[in-house]
Amino acid sequence: MASASDDRRRAAGLLIRVEGGAFASRLLDSEASPGVRARVLGVLRWQRALDHRLAPFLKRPLPRLDPEVRTVLRLGCFEGVLLGVPGPVATDAMVGLVRDLRKGSATGMVNAVLRRALAAKAPDEPPPDLRWSHPGWLWRRWSAAFGARAAEQAMAAAQTPAPPWVWFADERARAAVEGAGAALRSHPWCPGAWTADERLPVLMAEVSGGGAVVQDPSSQLVARVAADLSGGRGDAVDLCAAPGGKTALIRRRGSWSRLVAADLNLARAARLGRRLGGTGVVVADATRPPLAPVAWDLVLLDAPCSGTGTLRRHPELKWRLTAQEIVAAADRQRPMIGAALELVRPRGLLVYATCSVEAEENEAHFEPAPAGFRPVDLGGVLPAGLSWSETSAGGARILPHEHGDGFTLHALRRAPV
Ligand SMILES: C[S@@+](CC[C@H](N)C(=O)[O-])C[C@H]1O[C@@H](n2cnc3c(N)ncnc32)[C@H](O)[C@@H]1O
Repeated sequence: MASASDDRRRAAGLLIRVEGGAFASRLLDSEASPGVRARVLGVLRWQRALDHRLAPFLKRPLPRLDPEVRTVLRLGCFEGVLLGVPGPVATDAMVGLVRDLRKGSATGMVNAVLRRALAAKAPDEPPPDLRWSHPGWLWRRWSAAFGARAAEQAMAAAQTPAPPWVWFADERARAAVEGAGAALRSHPWCPGAWTADERLPVLMAEVSGGGAVVQDPSSQLVARVAADLSGGRGDAVDLCAAPGGKTALIRRRGSWSRLVAADLNLARAARLGRRLGGTGVVVADATRPPLAPVAWDLVLLDAPCSGTGTLRRHPELKWRLTAQEIVAAADRQRPMIGAALELVRPRGLLVYATCSVEAEENEAHFEPAPAGFRPVDLGGVLPAGLSWSETSAGGARILPHEHGDGFTLHALRRAPV
């Protein structure tokens, strides 16, 4: 078992790589220990609050320090304030760590700053964005769009770890996990989603063997709605399919004549191919899909987006995103939507989903509804118990939630000829 100092060293190394532009979720593979995972995601989630706590004790502002030193200060502050490690223990550990990172000249500064910051009193009434460690612009945007209460709940939800939810490929797999003594818990609103509080290794063994699929409940729900609304029959295409969570569930929930999964990214498409057994996988650009027009009963466009519904699992996005990036994401989505609409046959369905909760990337694309299409009422297919709101284009928005990522969903049906 990894010691706390191994976890600290590994976490610091990964945090430095995230500063350099890497994605934490890709670095935190299944091998990362819970201690490394908690530190990396925790520091990224609480970065603004940690920086605020450190700032009064720094002679030079954090952005002007070496990445190694900045990372060690944040990690020490996180351990002392949020992991409950006693201040002197966290400080001594970080002094050792900064030396290990070959920044021995900073040991005195790290020692002095952390001792004082960890002994300092927390601010009495921080504003919501500082309290929940989100950028001010995002808090202002969300509170203007959803109201202050909902925006604060969404920020709070992004600060909690996401448990691994799965769906089972068959009853045998579920019985095997339960038979091994794991207490499975069903999801409060997503049918077919399960998690285990204990004996996770049993569940993970099923995941490795293909008997269970890890997928956020929100993502599961999009796939279910797409399959159920289209009756689970006919020809279906998933235009931005990799890594394939939604395609796999759509396949399971229908008896399709054809199911094509496409993605532009070669490496991701290869992974998708392995996952789906190689059939029906194409490398293609969703703005120019090499597919017959007006020929598909279901077209799913799960578009690349800003990801503002997934900050719980991708906390570094908060610090990288800008309002301009959201507009740029919407600009990239527009030609994909145009191409997707052309594929849908009369009475067929376009399901457009993003894991963004921003209007520009969602309802703004469907106001007014594209010629020949009308929005499908989602009220009848969304599960009871799910808290959602209708968008101005007749879609559904689910804000980041204690029980799943935030996302937005629109379904449009083509008129019969
Ligand atoms: C939100 S992810 C899809 C997740 C996937 N539907 C799932 O549930 O596993 C968006 C995907 O779009 C792909 N993508 C980005 N630009 C694309 C384009 N122009 N054409 C097709 N795929 C694209 C990315 O490679 C990425 O895999």
